[in-house]
Amino acid sequence: METLIPVINRLQEVFLTVGAESIQLPQIVVVGSQSSGKSSVLESLVGRDFLPRGSGIVTRRPLVLQLVHVPPLEERRKQENGNGLKQNSQNTYPGIKADEWGTFLHCKNQIFTDFSEIRKEIELETDRGSGENKGISPEPIYLKIFSPNVLNLTLVDLPGITKVPVGDQPEDIETQVQEMILSFISNPNSLILCVSPANSDLATSDALKLAREVDQDGRRTLLVVSKLDLMDAGTDALEVLLGRVIPVRLGIIGVVNRSQHDLNTNKSLSDCAKDEQAFLQRHYPSLASRSGSRYLARTLSRLLMHHIRDCLPELKTRVTVLSAQYQARLSSYGQPVEDHSATLLQIVTKFASDYCNTIEGTARYIQTSELCGGARICY
Ligand code: GDP
Ligand code: NA
Ligand code: MG
Repeated sequence: METLIPVINRLQEVFLTVGAESIQLPQIVVVGSQSSGKSSVLESLVGRDFLPRGSGIVTRRPLVLQLVHVPPLEERRKQENGNGLKQNSQNTYPGIKADEWGTFLHCKNQIFTDFSEIRKEIELETDRGSGENKGISPEPIYLKIFSPNVLNLTLVDLPGITKVPVGDQPEDIETQVQEMILSFISNPNSLILCVSPANSDLATSDALKLAREVDQDGRRTLLVVSKLDLMDAGTDALEVLLGRVIPVRLGIIGVVNRSQHDLNTNKSLSDCAKDEQAFLQRHYPSLASRSGSRYLARTLSRLLMHHIRDCLPELKTRVTVLSAQYQARLSSYGQPVEDHSATLLQIVTKFASDYCNTIEGTARYIQTSELCGGARICY
């Protein structure tokens, strides 16, 4: 059985299309001060270059990023040509001649196989939504990345916490960004990925402060300590990483992302991953196996499975109620219905019932299988 996450991703799309926010879905949200490395962390999780990053306020609209695991092109071709038995035909994406590609909700029919074009489109759409002069907008950009190299995850990239308005930013930029962040992380089905740079004081971390506001007992907050390589000579983050400065229930994971120089010289993500491991082995030998971007990806995947398992009973109840409501409304329309919204309702109803089955299947699956083994690790 596939993991539950692609179903959730599809459901989210459908609910978005009908403009309903009735179901709160699990997703991973990055929170941190400006330039703490949020976009870099997300990029290394995806394993591809495609997010605008850099110094200053670069991320100015929320980016809801759905990662969808697909088989490599060669395998998809085989499935397509396989002697008539197209068991997975809807998953072969016929016509797409690439291993990895992206699509945006705002230009649905366009397939992006060049990841630098994806970055350009995010930049253009950011400007469309929030102007060209550092303004921000709470309106999300929805991007899907299909790849054989990703975990099935939904990630949200957010503008960084900032205090002083620049460019076209309003006087109350700090409050606006905080509200935007809170609107995503107050969703009890969000995992909060706080990103704090190792070269600034963790005790003053605005990210952790915001996370605490909505997650008092820390059940869904994870801390990523970035920029381990930028600490002053003679200092290290060992105490922080061991949780002795601020304990974080779900864990504290140190990473080294690409530096601005690495970005400027187009250093590849795989070279970066190797150097990250080497750095960790050299400076934090006792923690190396529990640090780094790869370990972060695995941890997130495991947390997500736990999280979904915990949410199952409640989600199922809500979907059942919704489904019944839509059924009732559908039958009151009678047949046949030309109305566009009625068709959408039908889709939602169908998803809702499929979803319930999947939830039941998954509940059994999770009970009977090793949790970590249930999540697909593709790195
Ligand atoms: P965001 O504003 O939080 O999304 O941060 P970005 O990901 O855009 O990164 C801001 C800047 O910090 C970029 O120039 C990155 O190259 C740099 N950066 C991020 N993480 C690290 C890190 O772990 N080490 C180093 N040396 N630079 C980093
Ligand atoms: Na930045
Ligand atoms: Mg960013």
